[in-house]
Amino acid sequence: MSFGQIYTGLIDKYFDRLPISNRKNIISIGEGNTPLIKLKNIPKEIGKDVNLYVKFEGLNPTSSFKDRGMTVAVTRAVEEGSNAIICASTGNTSAAAAAYAARAGIKSFVLIPDGKIALGKLAQAIMYGAEIIQIKGNFDDGMQLVKKIGESAPVSIVNSINPFRLQGQKTAAFEIIDELGKAPDYHCLPVGNAGNITAYWMGYCEYSGHIGKMVEKSTRICQDICQYSTDAVTSVPPKMVGYQATMSAPFLRGEPVKDPETIATAIRIGNPQSWDYAWMASRESGGWFDEFSDEEILKVQRMLAEKEGIFCEPASATSVAGALKDIQSGKIAEGSTIVCTLTGHGLKDPDIAINQCKTEMTAIDATFDAVNKAIFAKL
Ligand code: F0G
Repeated sequence: MSFGQIYTGLIDKYFDRLPISNRKNIISIGEGNTPLIKLKNIPKEIGKDVNLYVKFEGLNPTSSFKDRGMTVAVTRAVEEGSNAIICASTGNTSAAAAAYAARAGIKSFVLIPDGKIALGKLAQAIMYGAEIIQIKGNFDDGMQLVKKIGESAPVSIVNSINPFRLQGQKTAAFEIIDELGKAPDYHCLPVGNAGNITAYWMGYCEYSGHIGKMVEKSTRICQDICQYSTDAVTSVPPKMVGYQATMSAPFLRGEPVKDPETIATAIRIGNPQSWDYAWMASRESGGWFDEFSDEEILKVQRMLAEKEGIFCEPASATSVAGALKDIQSGKIAEGSTIVCTLTGHGLKDPDIAINQCKTEMTAIDATFDAVNKAIFAKL
């Protein structure tokens, strides 16, 4: 960007690649343009020579990658005359839907699993003024209900079954190619409902001029309303690697999981809606899926914060947990360039962070001697 130019969001930036007809209609809160941060200390610690980057999507306006999809979905919904949106959510989609609805001046309904949503996400939905509907069920139950309600009620569904969501989310891949000058060799990300892995694969393929079957199929959905730019950056798309939490890992089990569980509540999903697309992305790219226990996920979440100063939410850390395992085993070779998406900010889930505190926090006297002693004990 040149001097004196304000960043106005990803639709404006990638307008010729998105299904929006008029710049005047854009509903944006300045999403996208998130940093690609090269990890310094962790690769050194594991003794591997790799170019390991994180795309920190926690630095979006509502602190998750969902804003990329929501700007396009809500802009489209308003263009089509909708006055209300609805979604099922493990938390982040509801926060983004509520914020973009607020910005657009329309109503948002969010269905969330009772008691299984991180505190920060609930706080966001409350503050942005969503109509919050807690259900005695999980995300998958909520998703089925939303699909049914969407058939008759005058509300636009803004879950990732809405193709415009994926169109917005694909721009993260554009940004990565813009910054690296090429696609990475591997792209690692957490998988829940499987929209994001689908969107990244679309983005990488489109931007690098690689038209696989999945891109043809998914692009056809928006073809009537969008003339995609045919200019391509010459690049080979990456292998797409998806990671799940062990008790919520339908892609590892090969079928839906009935009662998914994990401390990483964002990806507590047993019946992913983009099941076929995610398999296509994985197979077409030559990637794979893997799984991690809650303990492993939390260990890497802490490692990122302690060693690199990057605080992401538990689900996000799954991508780095996976990359590190595959780098250490040699499945990902030294010299490779790897990008991991950190999908959400750690502050979304303060309870999980505070529960990891290793020592009990007790107050000491507010005197020089007491504080001095406490510091010297740790030096
Ligand atoms: N990471 C975070 C922080 C998420 O919130 C989600 C999904 C994912 C990863 C998985 O992405 O579903 O595209 O495979 N959260 C959704 C929600 C389901 O309702 O906020 P996915």
